Amino acid sequence: MRIKNLLLKNFRNYSDEVFDFGEGLNILTGRNAQGKTNCAEAVFYLCTGTSPRARRDRQLIKYGQSSAEISADCSSRCGDINISACIRENGREIKLNGNKITRNADLLGNLYAVFFSPQELRLIQDGPDERRRFLNISLSQLSRPYYVALARYNRILEQRNNLLKNRDLSLVYDTLPVWDEQLCSYAAVVARRRADYIAELAPLAAEAHSFLTDGKESLAVSPEKKYRGDEEELKGRLYEELKNNYDRDVRLGYTASGPHRDDVDIKIDGEDAKTYASQGQTRTAALAIKLAEVEIFKTAGGEYPVLILDDVLSELDLARRKKLVSRTAGLQTILTCTHAERVLGGREATKIRIEGGAVKR
Ligand SMILES: Nc1ncnc2c1ncn2[C@@H]1O[C@H](COP(=O)(O)OP(=O)(O)O)[C@@H](O)[C@H]1O
Ligand SMILES: [Mg+2]
Repeated sequence: MRIKNLLLKNFRNYSDEVFDFGEGLNILTGRNAQGKTNCAEAVFYLCTGTSPRARRDRQLIKYGQSSAEISADCSSRCGDINISACIRENGREIKLNGNKITRNADLLGNLYAVFFSPQELRLIQDGPDERRRFLNISLSQLSRPYYVALARYNRILEQRNNLLKNRDLSLVYDTLPVWDEQLCSYAAVVARRRADYIAELAPLAAEAHSFLTDGKESLAVSPEKKYRGDEEELKGRLYEELKNNYDRDVRLGYTASGPHRDDVDIKIDGEDAKTYASQGQTRTAALAIKLAEVEIFKTAGGEYPVLILDDVLSELDLARRKKLVSRTAGLQTILTCTHAERVLGGREATKIRIEGGAVKR
């Protein structure tokens, strides 16, 4: 899978620019605030339909303009494709080979992307929502049923939470079983696939971590223990759990259990990473998990993703930097940094210099 070229029009600080990417390592260099991350962001947006950092699409439109455009020619296991997005104040239009896509589900899975930036340290350090976000982004690209089940789960959950705030308690208690029947069938899909994904990720992450630390530390990633059994069994169990907690949920006014509250357990040398890991350990663990994600796309999705490494090298020591760059062999990588020389170690790469929202030619 690879992106051949990328066109940006009125996207962030770009007016009208084309990037020609090489098959392997692409290094975007430039001083701070020139547009390196903006370019990386555009690539991720075309792959997933979401920005890794902007809350709202309209932030992507160049100040003073009314719309932004991103377009890329790519080659993937499905052949050559063009993906484009036109982002306006009041919405967006995404096209695949010129045909309008109405649902994000139809975009996902055409081009896989793995994004890694210093922000990804939150995967280890922050609360469970960051780890669910990671799972959701990765699994949504890999599995359309997951994406669809998650969207429906979230919608019904919102309705259930609204119901829980209703003061007509007999209505609440009568209606809950109806909502829960539906909620739990989607919850089971989400929970089962997450658990399977983590089971697959765990050995890959442990291996990548051992590689990065020269076998000096160990990383263990494990899913919620309660998710055993197939979807049907899970559905039944999730339903029981909700049913046993009607009173609690009514008192709280929201649903306090279910996949929207789940976490992933991450341990370094047997200790909870969130609580005990140092900054350096956190960085290495997050990176190992991301490298494992790359391998999962290869095995489960049949193709390597585009790997986007935004500003991560400056935070790694030289040895780890070299190791990381060596792991990018064989996959298209878009790497941003301020000084290319410190990165390469003789590796061949396409170098692109960015200045003030333009490629310096
Ligand atoms: N919507 C926008 N319109 C115009 N400029 C923007 C917009 N969003 C961000 N920028 C500018 O982009 C620059 C940051 O670009 P970025 O890619 O994050 O830099 P870096 O090269 O350090 O990664 C800043 O100067 C910021 O003002
Ligand atoms: Mg940046």
